[in-house]
Parts: sequence; C-alpha cells; structure tokens
Amino acid sequence: MAALKSSAAVAVVGAGAMGAGIAQVAAQAGHPVWLFDLKPGAAQQAVEAMRETFAKLAAKGRMSAEAAAAAGARVHVAQGLADFAHAALVVEAIVERLDVKRSLFADLEAIVGDDCVLATNTSSISVTAIAAGLRRPARVLGMHFFNPAPLMALVEVVSGLATDPALAQAIHDTALSWGKSPVHTKSTPGFIVNRVARPYYGEGLRLLGEQAGDAATIDAVMREAGGFRMGPFELMDLIGHDVNYAVSRSVFDAYYGDPRFAPSLIQLELVNAGYLGRKSGRGFYDYAAGAVKPQPATEAAATLAVPISVSTASAFGAALAARLQAADVAFERRDAGPPLQAGAARIEIADGRSATQRGADEGHADLVVVDLVLDAAKAQRIAIAASERCSAAALAAATAALQAAGFAVTRFADVPGLAVMRTVAMLANEAADAVYQGVCDAAAADTAMCKGVNYPRGPLAWADAIGLPALLTVLDNLARTYGEPRYRASPLLRRLVAAGRGFHAPT
Ligand code: NAI
Repeated sequence: MAALKSSAAVAVVGAGAMGAGIAQVAAQAGHPVWLFDLKPGAAQQAVEAMRETFAKLAAKGRMSAEAAAAAGARVHVAQGLADFAHAALVVEAIVERLDVKRSLFADLEAIVGDDCVLATNTSSISVTAIAAGLRRPARVLGMHFFNPAPLMALVEVVSGLATDPALAQAIHDTALSWGKSPVHTKSTPGFIVNRVARPYYGEGLRLLGEQAGDAATIDAVMREAGGFRMGPFELMDLIGHDVNYAVSRSVFDAYYGDPRFAPSLIQLELVNAGYLGRKSGRGFYDYAAGAVKPQPATEAAATLAVPISVSTASAFGAALAARLQAADVAFERRDAGPPLQAGAARIEIADGRSATQRGADEGHADLVVVDLVLDAAKAQRIAIAASERCSAAALAAATAALQAAGFAVTRFADVPGLAVMRTVAMLANEAADAVYQGVCDAAAADTAMCKGVNYPRGPLAWADAIGLPALLTVLDNLARTYGEPRYRASPLLRRLVAAGRGFHAPT
C-alpha cells in the first residue's frame, strides 16, 4: 500500500484548533480538502482563516502567491458527512469522547468507500476502542498531530489491535510526504509523547516538594544547564494546571496506578486554588501586570584561592579543562580521579545518591556533586549540592572553580540525583520501557520527544551519551534512596548494560 497521492481527497471532521490545522497541512500538501463541523458556521470560519493564513504566508515569501491561492481554493466547507463519499482519508478531530467518536465513525462507514482510511486525532482514547464494532476496524488508526499542527512536525501514527500494518505504513509515508516527522506507535495510554514526557513534570514537582530549590531556580537549571526550552514549572503554567493535572491523572489511572506516573499534590493544590497558570493570571508564577519575575538562586562570585585539578577521563572533565584553558585559569591535568578537585573539595557528577550519602559511602567529607548538563562545552549554568559534612571553605572552592570555568552556579539542597540528571534518567527510563514493551522503537521515541515537545536531545540518544552504566547507577541509587518502585530501572536498560550496548547501537 502506497502513500496517498496528492490528488486524493482528504476530509477533516471538527474545525477546532486541531482540525483546522490538519486541514491546512493537507491542503498545503496538495490535497483537495473537505472540512466539516457540527457547529454551524465553524467550518466556514476555519476555511476563511486558513485562506488568510495562506495569504499571509505568501506576503512573507514563505509560499508563492499562486500556491497560496491554489491551496486556498483546495479547501472546501462540507455541508454534511455525505460530502465525504469520495474521501480517501478522513481525519477526525472532534470532542474527546469515546461514545461520540464511535458514533461518528459508524456514520462515516455508511458513507465512505471501502478503501477510505479512517484516522482519529485523539490524544488519550484507545484507538482499538474507537475501531471496535466497526465493519472494517483494520482501516482505523490514530494520526496524532501536535498543536499547532501546521508548525509541529510530529505525527504519532497509532495502530490499534485491528489496524492493518500496511495501512499504518502508508499513512506514515503520507505524513512524511506532507513534510511531517511521523513515528509508529501502538495504542497504549499516552502513546509515546504523553507517556514519556510525564517525568519532566513529575520529577520537577518532586524536586520542588523536596525543597531542592524554588520553581524559578529549578526552571533556570533545566533551561540553562539541561538545554530544555522551558523549565517544568513555566511549561506547566503555559499548558494550564487543570489540563496537565488531568493528563497526569488519566495516564496514572490508565497504567493502573503505576507509581512512576503518580500525580503531584502540589499541582492538585494549584488546581484546587484556581491557580491554573498563565490563563488564570497565576500558577507557579504571578502573571499580573507589574508582577516581578523571580530570579533563580545563583551563588555570589567566589575567589579561587586554591589549586585545582581536572581529570579529562570523562567528557565532562574534558570540557571543563577546555573551558578553564580558554579562560586562562591554571589547573593540573589528571587522567583519573574525580572530574574536578578544588583544594579539599572533591567534585563528582551526580549518580543518584545525595552528596552526603556518597561522601559517607566513599569516605570524603568535602564532597560536592554536580548536575548533568546537556552540553558541557556551552552550558551557562550548573547545579551543585554539597555534603552536609562539606566545609564552607571547600564549598567556596568548588563554587569558585566552576565559576572560573564560566558557569553560573546554582546550589540545590542535597537532593539525590539533582535536577537534570534525575529528570533525564527518568525520561530515558520511560522511553526504554516503551521500547521494551514494543510500543515504539528507539528512533521513534527520540524523534517523538524532539519533534513533539522540542526536547534538545532524544532521551535515548542522551542516555547513550551519558553512558548506560552511569544512567542505570543513577536509577538504582534513586530506587535505593527512595525505596519506591517509581525509580525501578527498565529491564531493557539493564539488558543493554549487561550486553555492553547502547539504545542506538546497531543490532
Ligand atoms: P476543539 O474543541 O478546538 O474543536 C473540536 C471541534 O469539533 C469543535 O469545533 C466542535 O464543534 C466540533 N465537534 C464536536 N463534536 C462534533 C461532531 N460530532 N461532529 C462534528 N464536529 C464536532 O478541540 P481540539 O483541541 O481541536 O481537539 C480535537 C481533538 O484533537 C480531540 O480529540 C483532542 O483530544 C485532540 N487533540 C488536541 C490537541 C490540542 O492540543 N488541543 C493536541 C492533539 C490532539
């Protein structure tokens, strides 16, 4: 089965934010498009807005005036489902209710031809359940676009239990020909993105609950050290706490209460208070006019008064050496030992133990742990935590050495795993389990997170870069520290470590 030809008619049901966006994408790809909405005038309004968008794109030089006029002429308002008789593909983007979607698909089956593909844009309903009871469930699949559909590249092509694999491939190839980045996934709660992304919010909320630092500080570390576009709290404020909490709850319930997905009482309190984020003027942050944006906690400049040495054995140590050299800071090079030593302070990369625990385990009082950074050559900020037994002088020396390498230094309370390392370990662990359970492959998991939620690096490629043994150690130490099955490592991660392989190693 081949990708749809651009001459094939595409029908879209629901002219809301998603339906209108999907219709635009199909029209831009050359398809004649019919748009229907139950609400009188809604489809007409969406088509008019779409034509304005095409005209604006032409004015900006993003498409030719002829192409804009042709795309505008390709979109039609459907007066009823009967207008879909000749459609090759119907994409449903109506209200998120199983009963309503089921009845729509039953109505559609009576109208469209036997070869017509029926796709749903649902984000949370089982595709298998939507298809059940239809005459031809094999032709039903999910085409899960992200908002705004014309701008976001990801399309999760979701196969239900009855979906024909050849059809899923044809729709995948169709999305590819539309300029999208499609990935295959199975009909499981949250599909890929809404499942794998849960720890981004969940670990942020736990870190806040454990008083690692305040929201502005954790956000700054996730952005400036982790390379994420937004920190978890500003992102949840943007999404809306009612929406984000509801998705968290639904994924938690759908996985029968797996503690990995446990929603947060902190977020529930925000919902209870009506502090829903930007849209209500208040969430973790205050959006009132004139409200002062809180600044992240940053250590004051410290003077480097002790000799420092760097081990270039790790990628972090090598980058540190390059940064110190570029800043004309004298240091001794080693090829073993901790990545950084500043006077008495021993600086190690987070391994899932608190600095105090690690210092006690390894017999070092003056132990400082540094968080993971996305790109050690370029990161502007780095988070640290010090052992409770660390002297003030050693802590100042560690801070000064990192500042000398050009980092803004944020000191967290001594939480295990710090923020970026702990979050990335949990994102990678969730992606690993999705791969282990056959929901998607490793390439799809990474593409989904980069193209669907703009992560700076796919979690599994990131795990490979950290080194799977180090990542497994982080998770095992977190599991030991908290005694919660939340931090249990995926059996796939364990298996790859035992085999000495990475997620993206050739099989
Ligand atoms: P929306 O509320 O903006 O639009 C839904 C449209 O469907 C409305 O115009 C409504 O009048 C129409 N409608 C409702 N029942 C209908 C029916 N039986 N027949 C024809 N039209 C009907 O909703 P939105 O945000 O566009 O979401 C649509 C679907 O896409 C939902 O399944 C949602 O879960 C999913 N989705 C939403 C995303 C988002 O960020 N908003 C992202 C990805 C998927």
